Amino acid sequence: MSLVAVVPGSFDPVTLGHLDVIARGANLFDELHVVVVHNPDKSAMLPIAQRVSLLEEAVREKGLSESVVVTSWNVGLLVDYCTDVGAKVLLKGIRSQVDVSYETPMAIVNRNLAAVETMFMLPDPAHAHVSSSLVRQVASLGGDVSPYVPPSVRDFFQRHELP
Ligand code: PNS
Repeated sequence: MSLVAVVPGSFDPVTLGHLDVIARGANLFDELHVVVVHNPDKSAMLPIAQRVSLLEEAVREKGLSESVVVTSWNVGLLVDYCTDVGAKVLLKGIRSQVDVSYETPMAIVNRNLAAVETMFMLPDPAHAHVSSSLVRQVASLGGDVSPYVPPSVRDFFQRHELP
């Protein structure tokens, strides 16, 4: 039986911290689905299709396309997607106690809803301070985001004017 896990998130945009979790998750699971989900609690900068395409490019650049599937999901519960693809695990990166507090209720609800377990992975310390919101802020003020994002995202910001 193959082990399938889902890495969900807003990925607005994907950062080196996300990619670190994705790359290490790809070493642990036979199939890893990276799923861009609309988070109603956040106002997004990039449309979902754009986030998916930046993620696809980043996964390709890192040589992970073999076992990593990039997609989006906006038609119901995330655990419904997990059930559809046979994933019993959600994999999430945890940078701090703030992340633990934010993730714990979701992990419990997802387990209650569909027996989907959440596994937390500590980031490489080099990326522990990186977040999409920080990247959005630096990029929108004209700063250099290249230390925090994959080349695909760096190039995207160089080509596009941000709101
Ligand atoms: O990167 P984010 O914004 O912290 O990711 C949060 C996300 C999208 C993973 C979370 O909001 C989510 O799981 N949304 C799916 C909707 C859902 O299934 N909700 C019920 C259980 S938490």
